[in-house]
This record gives sequence, C-alpha cells and structure tokens, in this order.
Amino acid sequence: MSDLDVGGPSYIPNWEDSSPQSVKNRMEYTERALHRLGVTLDEKTVALEIGSGKGLFLKLLEEKGVQVVGVDAHPRGPREPTQMKGRVEDLRFADNTFDIVFSAGVFDADVYEQQDQQKMLQEIARVLRPGGLYAAYVEVFGVPIPENLKLMPGTTRRSLSPIYQKVA
Ligand SMILES: C[S@@+](CC[C@H](N)C(=O)[O-])C[C@H]1O[C@@H](n2cnc3c(N)ncnc32)[C@H](O)[C@@H]1O
Repeated sequence: MSDLDVGGPSYIPNWEDSSPQSVKNRMEYTERALHRLGVTLDEKTVALEIGSGKGLFLKLLEEKGVQVVGVDAHPRGPREPTQMKGRVEDLRFADNTFDIVFSAGVFDADVYEQQDQQKMLQEIARVLRPGGLYAAYVEVFGVPIPENLKLMPGTTRRSLSPIYQKVA
C-alpha cells in the first residue's frame, strides 16, 4: 500500500513545500490579517492546519502556544500528536472542534480535477466551531464555498489570504 493510501482518491501530485522564510512571511501576513479582525493567536487558540506538509507552520503556531494539530495525506514533518496522516475529505475530528483552520497550497488548480474540493470545504466547516475562522492562504477554489462559511469583511475571495467565518 502506498504511503498516500489513507482513503479517498490516491492521486497527490509532487508537492513543492514552502521555504522556511515564506512560511514565516505567511505567519506574519496571517497574524496581521487576524489582528485586523481582533483575533490573536495564543494558548487559548485551538487550531488545525490541513495540508501541513513539513510542519513548519505548525511549529510556528506551537511557538505561540497555540494548541495545534496538522493533517496531511503525506506528512513530512513530526508525526502524532502534532501532525496526523489523513485526508481533508474525511477529517477525524468531532464537529465544532477548532477556533481556526489554516491551509496553504491545498486547493491548487492542478488538484482541482482530482479531489472533491466541495467535500474538503464542508469538512473544514464541520470541524470549525460556530464563529470560528478559516484562513485560506493563496488559494483558488474551483467550487462554491459552503453557505455556512462567510467571507470576513476586509478580505476578498481572490485576496492573498481570504478569511472565512463559520456561521451557525
Ligand atoms: C503544496 S503542499 C503545501 C504544504 C505546506 N502547507 C506548505 O505551505 O509548505 C500541499 C499539501 O497538501 C497535502 N494535501 C493535498 N490534498 C490533500 C488532501 N485531500 N488531504 C490531505 N492532505 C492533502 C499534500 O500532501 C501536501 O503536503
């Protein structure tokens, strides 16, 4: 069985991981965007990163004290409890678990044909608590966003980091 066979479609292209510097830049940009919404990442924050890859962003979140877990079909960083192997289409978490979900590079156009993005977005919405946020970095969604994820004021669907809020 291939390392990627964790259920769902097995196709995952060869991913290019972000450099440590670009992950740092992403954190700074994301924190600024969250700050504008009055949100701070700290010890009280319960977060999930989907497509966490090498786990570099997870590490930066941990350094801020955030209670964080990553899920990737092909994790290349530290394994459980920080980073779990799994598919976004079938997240093994209860409804309403997370304050915030992060992603970067998981909805790229070249996987659009191969993955059920609708299901992936529905799963993100399911595991977010009502009022929780989804920070989607440099994403192009090829499918409509679920109705219970509302784009936050000040971000646009095509911006570098659109932020969605789960409404009940
Ligand atoms: C372009 S890489 C980005 C990795 C990391 N976020 C970064 O910025 O360096 C995309 C990651 O998403 C993961 N991925 C893509 N589709 C997935 C899915 N449906 N379920 C779980 N992981 C997925 C891949 O295995 C890969 O690690």
